[in-house]
Amino acid sequence: MLLLAIESSCDETAVAILSGSPGEPARILASEISSQIELHRVYGGVVPELASRNHSLHLRPLVEQALATAELTLKDIDCFAATSGPGLASSLLIGATAAKALAVAAGKPFIAVNHLEGHLLSPYVGQGTVPPHIALIVSGGHTLLLDVENPGSYRRLGSTRDDAAGEAFDKVGKMLGLPYPGGPEIEKTAKGGDPNAFRFPRSMLKDPGFDFSFSGLKTAVLYTLTDQNPGYGTPRTSDLPDLCASFQQAVIDVLVVKTLRAARHTGRSTIALSGGVSLNQALRDGFARACEKEGLSLLTADSGLCTDNAAMIAFAALLHHFEGRHSPLDADIDPNLAL
Ligand code: KG4
Ligand code: ZN
Repeated sequence: MLLLAIESSCDETAVAILSGSPGEPARILASEISSQIELHRVYGGVVPELASRNHSLHLRPLVEQALATAELTLKDIDCFAATSGPGLASSLLIGATAAKALAVAAGKPFIAVNHLEGHLLSPYVGQGTVPPHIALIVSGGHTLLLDVENPGSYRRLGSTRDDAAGEAFDKVGKMLGLPYPGGPEIEKTAKGGDPNAFRFPRSMLKDPGFDFSFSGLKTAVLYTLTDQNPGYGTPRTSDLPDLCASFQQAVIDVLVVKTLRAARHTGRSTIALSGGVSLNQALRDGFARACEKEGLSLLTADSGLCTDNAAMIAFAALLHHFEGRHSPLDADIDPNLAL
């Protein structure tokens, strides 16, 4: 079974081809990504119109590149898939329309995939089966804690009430004068810093539920900056590592405590991390230590599958296909699609 998937929900154009059979680990035959990060960097964030124009420029060459890498032609592909939401409407439309057109031309089925399901399943691409577990999706747009019974059966336990974890990294990065996206820059800068130098808040930790909030933490960093530097300017360079390490630690503490609490509450013994923020090594180390202490298994996605990519969309689509779940060709995109 060969499946080609397109991801274009935000600022990465991506095409992947996977081969798979039920119960077997999927094989990634090609996973091509054209990142627009440089293009949007000058604006300090994603500009939707620029994103969609660039998806249409890069999609066709990427499909051709993926087929060449996999040494296949379009005729070999058994099924086509694309992200249908959540994301930027004009960006989603490009990928979804292209995948439908390919499916019609080839006379093969089309599958619309929820981007969040792609992230959620990404740690399992090489595993063959998806056991019951607690999933934490931490990306630029989402912070979601879910109880997963099996693929397709997801119970939302908690989510962010304001900023997503990655969004907080990006906004704090901007405040600190670091380039976009702030996540990887904060991680790099934090390496030389003391995570206990500034005592930033761990919001909603005492709240018995599983929701998160990161806007108070962001404001606490801002107040620290204005206290240090009335009139709000860039922080003293010597403080940057401590500020980054302390902010990063506050995010990690909340994510670890709430996720482990969810595992205890549901009795699940496995935790799977996904999304761009799960690339953060300090976060991975924090989870590894906590899971070891509690006797839980921890699974993270391969680094190439954490930030937006089409292999995770193809994997989710493969699982849909194995269950005979195809999508109608008039299936619309949905920028607010929920999981
Ligand atoms: O999953 P993703 O590519 O996009 C969404 O679906 O949102 O995640 C991008 C986010 C950005 O906010 C970026 O700053 C963050 O992931 N990120 C990181 C790291 N690498 C990427 N955050 C913290 N540490 C990192 N190393
Ligand atoms: Zn994403």
